[in-house]
Amino acid sequence: MPIYYFLVLFILSYLLTTTSAAGTTLPGCPDSCGNLTIPYPFGIQSGCHLPGFLITCNTTYSPPRAFLDTGNVPVTSINLSAGTAVVELLVARDCYAPLHLSTSILQTEFDLTGLPYTISNTRNKFTVVGCSAIALNYRYEQTNTVSYTSGCIAFCSDRSSVINGSCSGIGCCQSAIPKGLQRFNTVLQSTSNMNLTWTFNPCNLAFLIDTEEFVFDVADLANFYNRTTVPVVLDWAVGNHPTCESAATSPDYACG
Ligand SMILES: *[C@@H]1O[C@H](CO)[C@@H](O)[C@H](O)[C@H]1NC(C)=O
Ligand SMILES: *[C@@H]1O[C@H](CO)[C@@H](O)[C@H](O)[C@H]1NC(C)=O
Ligand SMILES: *[C@@H]1O[C@H](CO)[C@@H](O)[C@H](O)[C@H]1NC(C)=O
Ligand SMILES: *[C@@H]1O[C@H](CO)[C@@H](O)[C@H](O)[C@H]1NC(C)=O
Ligand SMILES: *[C@@H]1O[C@H](CO)[C@@H](O)[C@H](O)[C@H]1NC(C)=O
Ligand SMILES: *[C@@H]1O[C@H](CO)[C@@H](O)[C@H](O)[C@H]1NC(C)=O
Repeated sequence: MPIYYFLVLFILSYLLTTTSAAGTTLPGCPDSCGNLTIPYPFGIQSGCHLPGFLITCNTTYSPPRAFLDTGNVPVTSINLSAGTAVVELLVARDCYAPLHLSTSILQTEFDLTGLPYTISNTRNKFTVVGCSAIALNYRYEQTNTVSYTSGCIAFCSDRSSVINGSCSGIGCCQSAIPKGLQRFNTVLQSTSNMNLTWTFNPCNLAFLIDTEEFVFDVADLANFYNRTTVPVVLDWAVGNHPTCESAATSPDYACG
């Protein structure tokens, strides 16, 4: 039965290439960095990953810490079946000066251009926490033009007006980001010197965050400034596929 023979061979070779394309590490390649498992197509050495999927493992830390590409953005998890990776990004902050709580960070930026990642628009939301905060999230082009601008305003006059669990403008505001985003800048501005609100809200904050990791708590007005970084979910796919769903129909499928 030659036809079955070829069919079996075809299916076998398909299964073999799909499993080697996703899941296990290549022979001779380290499969973890600290407590983070690094599955192919990711890898921490040259020859161990597909183009763009380099993870830098810095063994100066104990346990060693993984970073995206050659940079300094920490990677905390990789999910093959979802085609996602979680990174930690900086929180923009502006604190009531007399308290000397932390240095202001009024602008942040993140750029994935040239890498096979996009910032997940389904998992993340641009979030502003504070009582006198205006923040913009925008994409700045190298041609000196702004191709996307969005933003959020969070005001409140007293703690009792803030609704626990509800991020809808009073002390907390969230807005969606566009699909396929690879680069953004954030700029935060306080509309008051916080002298009337600092007792329950010492800092205005702006950040992108995984919505599965953030439910607004009234206590965040007082405490959240303590978070230097927050988790942000990236989508990744092998080949020229903007999403894992479209990659799934392709022979070089490696989302999982
Ligand atoms: C990995 O280690 C970091 C730092 O010690 C810790 O915060 C994190 O929870 C650990 N993750 C897992 C999956 O064990
Ligand atoms: C590892 O981290 C340390 C401390 O942040 C830094 O000084 C060093 O340059 C890093 N090494 C690499 C290879 O990135
Ligand atoms: C990876 O993503 C899949 C699909 O979204 C989910 O079911 C699974 O729990 C995730 N795995 C981990 C370890 O988070
Ligand atoms: C708060 O600051 C504003 C602007 O500097 C000032 O006019 C006002 O008197 C201050 N209020 C209090 C209670 O310190
Ligand atoms: C807000 O609600 C959460 C969940 O119900 C609860 O754990 C938290 O203590 C509440 N925070 C405040 C300040 O009441
Ligand atoms: C913020 O962190 C500092 C140092 O870790 C701690 O002393 C302080 O109590 C924290 N503040 C709040 C409001 O949780």
